[in-house]
Amino acid sequence: MNSKKIIGIIPGDGIGRDVTRAARIVLDAVDASCDDLSLEYRDMEVGERPFERCGSAFPDETREGIAGCDAVLFGAIGSPHDFVVLSGIRYGFHLYANVRPVKALKGVPALQPDADLVVIRENTEGLYRGVGYDDGDRHVNLRIFTDEGMERVIRFAFRWAADNGRRKVTFTHKESILRHTDARMKDLFYDIAPEYAGIEAEDMEIDACAMRVVMKPRTLDVIIAENANGDILSDVGGGIIGGLGFTPSANIGNDLAMFEPVHGSAPKYADKDVVNPTATLMAVRMMFDYLGRPDIAARLQAGIESVLEAGKIRTYDIGGDSSTSAFAHAVAEAMQRG
Ligand code: IPM
Ligand code: MN
Repeated sequence: MNSKKIIGIIPGDGIGRDVTRAARIVLDAVDASCDDLSLEYRDMEVGERPFERCGSAFPDETREGIAGCDAVLFGAIGSPHDFVVLSGIRYGFHLYANVRPVKALKGVPALQPDADLVVIRENTEGLYRGVGYDDGDRHVNLRIFTDEGMERVIRFAFRWAADNGRRKVTFTHKESILRHTDARMKDLFYDIAPEYAGIEAEDMEIDACAMRVVMKPRTLDVIIAENANGDILSDVGGGIIGGLGFTPSANIGNDLAMFEPVHGSAPKYADKDVVNPTATLMAVRMMFDYLGRPDIAARLQAGIESVLEAGKIRTYDIGGDSSTSAFAHAVAEAMQRG
């Protein structure tokens, strides 16, 4: 049976255009080679272009378009539109779990060549909810948690660990200081943990965990982090595996998911066809897992790894001079062979 999937594609700004173009090369190859799957693309705009055209960086037609997609691929967005756009998608569609794998790949120079962990960033609450006020000389941002929000991301992390062959979930916090949020969330974490008997549960202070990611990443597996902490921790993770060219992410909710590289829009490299598209291609890999096609996901991951390991096609960030699109074509070809 041929199943059709509607894939929303949102390049965004800067190098978001380059990396989504690269993703299209791979998606087209999948579409052409799989008889039992057809991909229908829905191109949508956010950021500078719609802002200049109609005064909104996240126009209604994009919001409505996203709602009808099976999955969405997002490129990148920089300031000043990043918060409006990303909160419009992540908060607006309740994409509460941001899954950010940190895995060192062969052929990529890395501080920690054995690293293989996953940050699960709470994606709709916490400090980045953006709630606050100014009161004279006092300037306040609130770090808001709800029981419902905490519970769903904790359960998601345990389920994700179980479904992906992981054995431990580490809950990060600063409970001694953040009594109203982290202490409550830690209690919930240990209340829920026994429901997932096969998965070990531990907790760690967030600062200690950041050092652990750098020095002993193999002692970590799946990490739960508050929104802002997860943002920082995932860049720390990128730092130990060769940079943000290698960190994909999946923003997952109950009805929709959006996939994107962790990196930003790097305007000075935009439209030059030089940046490393690996993070975006790995985000596409996560998308196929989400769409129930682990077979395609595995072929894509193997294709990416084989091109990196062979080392003939390398982008500038890892010492080569190959183009973004040459890398994507090489991955698509490796997928067909494999
Ligand atoms: C990320 C980015 C965004 C975030 C910015 C651009 C708002 O840093 O996805 O990690 O902090 O969520
Ligand atoms: Mn970030």
